[in-house]
Amino acid sequence: MDIKLIEEINSKTQILDVVSEFVDLQKRGKNFMGLCPFHDEKTPSFSVSPEKNICKCMSCGEGGNPINFYRKIKNISFQQAAVVLAERAGIEVKKQVVKKDPNENLYKLMDEAAAFYMFNLKNSKAGQVAFDYLIKRELTTKTIEHFKLGYAPTYGDTLYQVLKDKGYAVSDMIKLGIVKQSDNGKYYDLFSDRVIFPITDPRGNVVGFSGRTLSSKEKVKYINSPETIIFKKGQLVYHLYEALSDIRKSKQLVLFEGFFDVISSYQAGVTNGVATMGTSLTRTQAALMRKVSPSVVIAYDGDQAGQKATDHAIPVLEKVGLKTEVLVIPEKLDPDDFIKNYGADKYELLFSQYLTDPYQFRFNYYKQGLDLTNSNDIKTFKSKVTQMLVGSDPAIIAIYKNKLAKILHIKSEDIIVKKTVQPTVIKPIDREIKEKFVDRLERSERYLIIVMLRSKQDAINIHSQLSANDYSDPIISSIRSKVMSYYQDHDIIDIDDFKDYLTHDQRTYFEKYILTELFYTNHVEITKETYQKYVINMKNAAEKRRVSFLKDELDKNGYSNIEMAKEYNELLAKTKKNGGPNGN
Ligand code: CTP
Ligand code: MN
Repeated sequence: MDIKLIEEINSKTQILDVVSEFVDLQKRGKNFMGLCPFHDEKTPSFSVSPEKNICKCMSCGEGGNPINFYRKIKNISFQQAAVVLAERAGIEVKKQVVKKDPNENLYKLMDEAAAFYMFNLKNSKAGQVAFDYLIKRELTTKTIEHFKLGYAPTYGDTLYQVLKDKGYAVSDMIKLGIVKQSDNGKYYDLFSDRVIFPITDPRGNVVGFSGRTLSSKEKVKYINSPETIIFKKGQLVYHLYEALSDIRKSKQLVLFEGFFDVISSYQAGVTNGVATMGTSLTRTQAALMRKVSPSVVIAYDGDQAGQKATDHAIPVLEKVGLKTEVLVIPEKLDPDDFIKNYGADKYELLFSQYLTDPYQFRFNYYKQGLDLTNSNDIKTFKSKVTQMLVGSDPAIIAIYKNKLAKILHIKSEDIIVKKTVQPTVIKPIDREIKEKFVDRLERSERYLIIVMLRSKQDAINIHSQLSANDYSDPIISSIRSKVMSYYQDHDIIDIDDFKDYLTHDQRTYFEKYILTELFYTNHVEITKETYQKYVINMKNAAEKRRVSFLKDELDKNGYSNIEMAKEYNELLAKTKKNGGPNGN
């Protein structure tokens, strides 16, 4: 889309119309004011200027022109926002300028399926049984509607028939996993006699379903859509899209284990809840959460499995920069059961009374079930706690060393917490000085990022050859991970959209040193042969770094570490063969 068209859309869209869809506005002089939709507040600081046709929050700074406001509030891409607003303003956007989402027809199909399930819950006899089940679990009709719960009728091909009548391709139904083909060639629906939970992606498209059995005798409690091109469990967070405005307002989200925890909590007033779907938390999921919220409360089940999952989730969440807290539900209950047993008020109280920080949580969790007079248990406990402290703030290390020392009746000086080999993070100011002397190696790394941005195929190829350790600069390596995760959902990179996935530091680096490179433009041809040289260059340099690291370690600790010595000798021989002192 070119600048002119974007300007036309912005100027023909009244900011007042767009904002008032989401905010109650009152006239104040020339402007209008309302409660900011991007953060929680009691007095209005969101200002709309019809004259300038922009809006801005005086407190948090969010806002912008019509397209920018709309994309932020709807969590969609710039392109998508522009197209919607163009349509409303009656501006024709030529089909070829709009990068149509190639999966558009798949989303439509899934929408249709979701509507079918919802219809069945309300309008069929068997659906009534499912409805009663939900009511028995104390859900209200309003909650059922918010979560768009449905019912899949018993064995058969009803959904298949409905979709076929509407003109959908069988191949798409199969691709999406909602219809299967039996050995005798007949098509049948995947879900049968189950309550259906539609699952949306971060942009609100229904991309998959989970179906819960109504019978306590049935062995398989949940059946999920299989992994498809639009349904990748590790990259989705249940209820994230639906909870978006509540998450933004409270600047926090609550992470649960199960659908029913999210749903009961929602009904009990905790409306900013999300869940993963029976798999352990991935980095991509954590990153999705970080995009919409600065902090998270883990509220997994209070049992052993829930605590173990919490222990796993903490570092994943902290690594993406989420402030993390843990809610330990008493009596080993899950949130859903707690609400049933003690009611919504007590439940909300938990969030103030039972919240612990990640250190407190792990310290208690690691201690559980151990006999601290048994030497093996002492060793286990001590090693877990010291490991948890690696890389932590000195004040925290001091506190927990003392706690541990007290429990184990030793001196806190005798507890050793290893220092991590921190990758050298270059401060922005050092960056500028360094920039003058930036070496060929770093140029290679930046160049490869650009190649990766230009083509998914090349990105996959380059990524398969280089591991994180092959990058000398951690920030470039981290940007390259973002590029790859972006490609998991997209075939081409929309730079503006992509930038939203970057952390502040990554973005600063990206804008300053990557987007400004000459060959960033598509006009310069980049061949496989050229970039392959850069790959080799990096690999050689990485090996040399490893050799010097090994040498330092061996010099320091003597050559008693056989494995290290072996690796050193092998690598040394190899790098000598490759020649050149430093790969530059
Ligand atoms: N899950 C799954 N397959 C299963 C069991 C569980 O995919 N066979 C996933 C579901 O996403 C479920 C989550 O793991 O929501 C947590 O499991 P569980 O606590 O057993 O489910 P609840 O949602 O709490 O369901 P219920 O309260 O009905 O037992
Ligand atoms: Mn449960």
